[in-house]
Amino acid sequence: MVQDRKILLSGIQPSGRSHIGNYFGAMRQFVEMQNNHDCLFMIVDYHALNSTRDATVMRQNIIDLATDYLAIGLDPKKSVIFKQSDVPEHTELAWIFDTITTMPFLERAHAFKDAEAKNKEISVGLFNYPMLMAADILLYDTDVVPVGADQKQHVEITRDTAEKFNRIFGDTFKLPETKILSNVAVVPGIDGRKMSKSYGNTIPLFAEDAEIEKLVMSIVTDSSAGVPKNVHEIHKLFRSEADLATLYQSKAGKYKELKELLFADIKAFIKPLREKRKEIAGDVHAVLDVLKRGGEKAKAKASAKMEQVRERLGVKLY
Ligand code: TYM
Repeated sequence: MVQDRKILLSGIQPSGRSHIGNYFGAMRQFVEMQNNHDCLFMIVDYHALNSTRDATVMRQNIIDLATDYLAIGLDPKKSVIFKQSDVPEHTELAWIFDTITTMPFLERAHAFKDAEAKNKEISVGLFNYPMLMAADILLYDTDVVPVGADQKQHVEITRDTAEKFNRIFGDTFKLPETKILSNVAVVPGIDGRKMSKSYGNTIPLFAEDAEIEKLVMSIVTDSSAGVPKNVHEIHKLFRSEADLATLYQSKAGKYKELKELLFADIKAFIKPLREKRKEIAGDVHAVLDVLKRGGEKAKAKASAKMEQVRERLGVKLY
């Protein structure tokens, strides 16, 4: 790897089909940035364990996400592509962070507050989620974390945790920066809320045409001045604002036609990605091999860092 390149790390939960919110919020940046950064891209299976408790589903979701990564253009020759559970140092470091973090600090996390507001059962794993994410990031001396806006607070918690550790035990961790694409910080779903697997409002990134059509036609249309807001917000991902201004003016109030145009644009965009994905999915062994090799590379880096951490803590005696 080239010396003074910045280290970039990001991750996605293997918790269902990747969608255009994941892609435009985060994944697209991954592809662009792998040419001038030392990149690590994770499948955060231990994070997903908070919601997936079926081994068959977990296994399939991991393979699917690895396939998605390759299909969008992540290149194992340029980047380390791996799954979190192959590097146990992540959970080890998360425990260490747990011991220097207070409950009230984690109670301020949005994900925890949301779950609490909805009266959901909150596992200790969900509560500690930001500590595992901090470990993911800090283990690799990460400089930059490209994510959607919903992850901003997690990266702030990561920075606070690094600072606290450094204060107590001495300078060990680098403080990472978040990279959020401002124009697509939050991609809305077909109901206008944030596009999210858990809301069931997504347009899957590799969907077949009929599925895309059905989803686009069911986008909820609350309008202002004849412009269906949610249709327009999603359309912005596929066409320039200038193009859209003319289009939406000439078709003011014609929701069905605008949806048909959006469908055509999404369909054209997804087709080559979907075809590439099908090709890659045909060879599961090759996909697993990428993950296995990536895990070995990540493990080498993480275990060197943990040696340093254990030294700082005073538990490394030989
Ligand atoms: P996850 O799996 O929920 O989402 C993966 C990535 O997609 C982005 N994203 C969106 N961006 C814009 N609009 C949307 N509607 C939208 N939905 C999802 C997310 O911001 C994210 O970048 N905690 C993380 C995974 C994680 C991680 C990490 C990320 C674990 N460790 C270390 C970076 C670094 C998560 O649950 O993302």
